[in-house]
Amino acid sequence: MNDKLIRYSIDVILKFQQPNGAYPACPTMPDYQFCWFRDSSFIAHAMLISGETASAQAFHTWAALTILRYESNARRAMGDFSVGKAPNPHDILRARYTYDGGKGPDEWPEFQLDGLGTWLWALKAFNDADNPLNVDVQRAAHFVADYLTVLWPSPCHDLWEEAGDRVHTYTLAAIYGGLLAAADYLKRPELCTVADNIKTYVMNNMVSSGRFMKSVGNPIVDASLLGLATPYRLVEPDDPLMTATVKQIEADIYAAGFGVHRYRGDVYYGGGAWLLLLAWLGWYDTETGNTERAEKILSDIERQAASNGDLPEQVVPPMLADVSHYDYWVKVRGTIATPLLWSHAMQLITANAVQQSTVKS
Ligand code: BGC
Repeated sequence: MNDKLIRYSIDVILKFQQPNGAYPACPTMPDYQFCWFRDSSFIAHAMLISGETASAQAFHTWAALTILRYESNARRAMGDFSVGKAPNPHDILRARYTYDGGKGPDEWPEFQLDGLGTWLWALKAFNDADNPLNVDVQRAAHFVADYLTVLWPSPCHDLWEEAGDRVHTYTLAAIYGGLLAAADYLKRPELCTVADNIKTYVMNNMVSSGRFMKSVGNPIVDASLLGLATPYRLVEPDDPLMTATVKQIEADIYAAGFGVHRYRGDVYYGGGAWLLLLAWLGWYDTETGNTERAEKILSDIERQAASNGDLPEQVVPPMLADVSHYDYWVKVRGTIATPLLWSHAMQLITANAVQQSTVKS
């Protein structure tokens, strides 16, 4: 039933991947015509598990070469942070680069550490599937592991590119998952100790009322908290803190049948419901045995694809939080990003997880 959309998702990603491996976040929206580490690491993972190893390989090489190009400045950012200074925005590794690895406009909130953690995480499945990491990828992964080891406690923008003065739970989970993964394939057991410290920090500072919170000092739930269990395994999917968090996500921001809002009070395009977050909830479901809802989620996603198969970033009516914010963003950026390659990637990941759990049972 979902097969047609699975094929389409693979094709649309292949169609827009650049010859050098970069994946655009969205090929039709000017502000998204860049390659983000976050979006692309999930896209590369989706391509890997869909049998498109060459596509994943090309992205990982692009990522490595881009990181190594900026290594010396990034080392300066590490040095500054180590002596108590805020990293210089011109030195940090950026959240996104142009397709050829250049820097985008300076005013973008580029200091986002989660994408680099996700990249380290994605390399593990890639390597485990008998794909040796080439020399550049290994060098870049070693460097990113060092970079995150130093910088993880720093406030930075979250995965929604907001609140750069805070430390975010999802960001730390992505770094945790990335460092644990890298400890294995880089054979650096000391990274497990860093990951343990991160987990301790999360447990001591990012739990409130028996569940996880969005950021230090912000107790609301954010849909990205799903990532704590799936896939980063900071806790198990059935950990009571996790199940309480997901219950709160369902109560506050799950628009059943449509999508999942990022968080309460989101105003981006009026705060629509995101398809990639809906898929993420389904992915989590496959890990707690709720395959039935995961299957429903996949058909909800399919129903909201455009007639050619394109998946948008978010859907708006009928749960639009605020029309004026919707109109504002349409004026600033144009219509909602479609196709969003990250939405396609999450559809592939969840469809694959459902298939795997059906095979197992
Ligand atoms: C989202 C980011 C995403 C970027 C590109 C932003 O609107 O908040 O999470 O990486 O778009 O898709």
